[in-house]
Amino acid sequence: MKKFPYTPLQIAIHIYAWFGIALLIFDFATGNISPNPVQDLEQRTGRHALTLLVLLLLCTPINTLFKWSEPLKRRRALGLYTFMYATIHVIIFADLDYGLAWSRLLQEVIQKSRLVVGAIAFILLIPLAITSFDIWKKRLGKNWKRLHQLVYFLAPLVVLHYLWSKKGDILSLQGEILKPLIYGLIIAIFLIVRIPPIKKALASFSTRMMSLLPPKKSAA
Ligand code: HEM
Repeated sequence: MKKFPYTPLQIAIHIYAWFGIALLIFDFATGNISPNPVQDLEQRTGRHALTLLVLLLLCTPINTLFKWSEPLKRRRALGLYTFMYATIHVIIFADLDYGLAWSRLLQEVIQKSRLVVGAIAFILLIPLAITSFDIWKKRLGKNWKRLHQLVYFLAPLVVLHYLWSKKGDILSLQGEILKPLIYGLIIAIFLIVRIPPIKKALASFSTRMMSLLPPKKSAA
């Protein structure tokens, strides 16, 4: 019998990614949308993009801690879905919010620092999405890894964009800062565990823990 070509993790990622759009369509069809539908769409697509970005950053720590390498192979799908949602988010802003009036839109973006950081994050996402394919990995060689390290800079920018969108101020604890702070904390942890000495310590801790587990029975 032919082996099923997809792993459970692959299926889960695709279902989760498309679920965001399916839910949006369902909520629209059933009228379960806020009185400001454009803002609702912007917020949901923005949050979904950020959540997928967080899941992307989770792949390496999972591999370090559990010696499970499959998540590393799924980073491309998560990155492309992040880009897909971010693009929809930006299109909603440009089209539904500003009716594609580019000069007014540009003026608005330049004047608001929360939009400036969002725009920088989006611009950085573009080369990452384009070069996420194997052909670019081969072409760029060592530079591919360097380029894709931009994600470590981009992720905190998105959190800042989120925090400022909520009129959040950490110093005076004003605005709806809880959710952006939670995202920020998770991203900070995922970035800290990539620092080489910390990553090394985690990997050896994980090896010690795994050696305490009973050995797996080999297939007969
Ligand atoms: C040119 C780039 C971007 C523009 C113009 C833009 C625009 C906006 C606007 C207008 C809002 C506020 C919606 C509201 O509450 O009224 C928003 C919120 C948000 N955006 Fe963006 N954005 C951009 C890039 C991004 C990117 C690249 C991401 C993620 C990868 C992102 C994630 C978010 C998140 C998480 C929120 C907060 C959602 C919430 O309030 O629950 N944005 N964005």
